[in-house]
Amino acid sequence: MFPSQNNPIGVIDSGVGGISVLKCIRQHLLHENLIYVADSRFAPYGEKSSEEITHRVLTVFDFLNKQDVKSVVVACNTATAASIQTLRDRFSYPIIGMEPAVKPASLMSKNKVVGVLATSGTLLSAKFSALLEHHSTDIHFITQPCFGLVELIEQGDLDSPALIALLKKYIDPLLKEKIDTLVLGCTHYSFLKPAIQTLIPDHIKIVDTGNAVASYLKDVLIEKGLLNQNRASGTSNFWTNSLDKNADKVMANLWGESPESSNYRGLWV
Ligand code: DGL
Repeated sequence: MFPSQNNPIGVIDSGVGGISVLKCIRQHLLHENLIYVADSRFAPYGEKSSEEITHRVLTVFDFLNKQDVKSVVVACNTATAASIQTLRDRFSYPIIGMEPAVKPASLMSKNKVVGVLATSGTLLSAKFSALLEHHSTDIHFITQPCFGLVELIEQGDLDSPALIALLKKYIDPLLKEKIDTLVLGCTHYSFLKPAIQTLIPDHIKIVDTGNAVASYLKDVLIEKGLLNQNRASGTSNFWTNSLDKNADKVMANLWGESPESSNYRGLWV
């Protein structure tokens, strides 16, 4: 008997981006209680040092540990690249990380030219270099750091003229190189799929990682005997440390719920 089966699962990100992963987790795991924590006051992580990111992520884990989580999903490519090893060394429950979908993209690409949009932190990490090197034998990858996008998404902007102009600046060079597959290597960018689709031809496939991570989390919970046995619908609670008074509205909107719902909590640290 595993006493922690009914304990919650933590899902964390530098901000609201991980809600794109949380949605996939909810689809795969209807009965799990989910606690989402956005470290939005310290977003973006993309240009911070690994040490700073690890310090922030450990602070978020402190908060989650007080709520007896049975597992945590680091729904952030940048935080995974910077700190996943430290986290796994320190905590014994399952910790699931994220990496850009380079492997699935390399299998999907017909012309073997793949674009990757991610934060500079992810693209410059040793973890990502190793991943890319592993798949670079027959694929030409074109990587593009996307400065400024996360800040706009944190404000709930998914389609303003300023955001579209910035996106176009990042995507146009990839189109010139004739990519046929585009990897969204930052969980925030998954919310930009509709905007991206207006800027690329129909034949280009967009790949992200949310579903694969959710399915892997389910497998891990089953394997460890940690699946919630309660048949009631699981709860989803949201925490943010953002000082922006609209933060709960932005989160609720991305999750698809009204901000009046009692699931949105204020400052957690
Ligand atoms: N959502 C995060 C990721 O997947 C990072 C965004 C940021 O804070 O720079 O990389």
